[in-house]
Amino acid sequence: VSEVRRAMTGIRPTGDLTIANYLGAMKPIADMQETYGGDISIFVADLHGLTDQEPDVVNVHRLGTGRSLIAAGVNPERSTIYLQSELKAPTEGVASILDRHTTVAELLRIPTLKEKIRHGMGPESASAALLRYPILMAADIIVQDATDVPVGEDQRPHIEFARDVTDRFNSEYGDTFVKPTMMTAVPEGLRILALNGHGKMSKSVPNSAIFLNDPPSEVDQKIKRAATANPGAMTDVLESHFTLTEALCKTQEDIKILEGLKTAHLDGGKVMHGFKTFMAAMVNSFLEDFQERYYNISDREVVRTLTEGSDRAAERANQVLHRAERAMGHVSLRDYLN
Ligand code: TYM
Repeated sequence: VSEVRRAMTGIRPTGDLTIANYLGAMKPIADMQETYGGDISIFVADLHGLTDQEPDVVNVHRLGTGRSLIAAGVNPERSTIYLQSELKAPTEGVASILDRHTTVAELLRIPTLKEKIRHGMGPESASAALLRYPILMAADIIVQDATDVPVGEDQRPHIEFARDVTDRFNSEYGDTFVKPTMMTAVPEGLRILALNGHGKMSKSVPNSAIFLNDPPSEVDQKIKRAATANPGAMTDVLESHFTLTEALCKTQEDIKILEGLKTAHLDGGKVMHGFKTFMAAMVNSFLEDFQERYYNISDREVVRTLTEGSDRAAERANQVLHRAERAMGHVSLRDYLN
């Protein structure tokens, strides 16, 4: 197991991407391209999309997701952009090895699944694919020998699981898998809330989410309706709006204005109207640039990028699978003759 650093993350192509997807995973990858001393990759998690979506839905969105990654500033010359299903065989191979080192009880304890169960899903309706979601995700990370995984806070339980399962495998069969570390945009983990403050921003509550393809008028309307706080008070949702806005500021002057608004608010000033106007301006200015880039990228270019990236990523994934099989002493038929 080498000392090389490798960052990687994935995005599900289940629908339109939100600005929280951008801030949680796409922006960190785009930003680190300048400073990170190692390989960087980001992939379209279409196999994960199939956990709860039909293939035709996933097919529609996977090129769009690839295109969004490029529009978000992920540079195919610097970073590997690939499609998860192009690595299906080695990824599933490692996932089934991880199955042996995972108990059903452990999977049931993972908070993301518990959440779904709380919302009415039970053993009768939850699929085995949903149960195995963290295993497949751990395999994604492991087959790239990833050291650093930039994700939003909602993915923390999955990264914890990936860390635990690599430890268990390595302690049984010797150092084989690289143990990944979660990377976050902010120390406590990035969690952008829904604009109404109810839960995290997600595509499943569209009126409370800002999508990367929203037109300015829509953004203005959504932000106008967003929950805030009384003068002098700080709420989780307002804190989230500040975090989101700050992440999108392009200049030091913008950051100063934002800090000024925050101070005025905490001092009891009535600045929420002004703040919302400023927030909408920052969001729309970002979206304008993003959308211009997005519409200038062709499907051909996306397919070519994903194909080249997938070839590279698949090569590494196959190496990791074989390394694991060797470590376990799981020989192939041909090995009997050697
Ligand atoms: P997905 O597609 O749900 O989300 C993509 C990224 O966006 C982040 N994110 C958020 N960050 C902050 N606040 C929010 N409200 C918010 N909503 C989404 C997510 O944390 C994520 O970083 N399981 C992953 C996909 C995946 C993956 C992997 C990631 C599959 N295999 C291997 C890393 C490594 C997912 O569903 O992301």
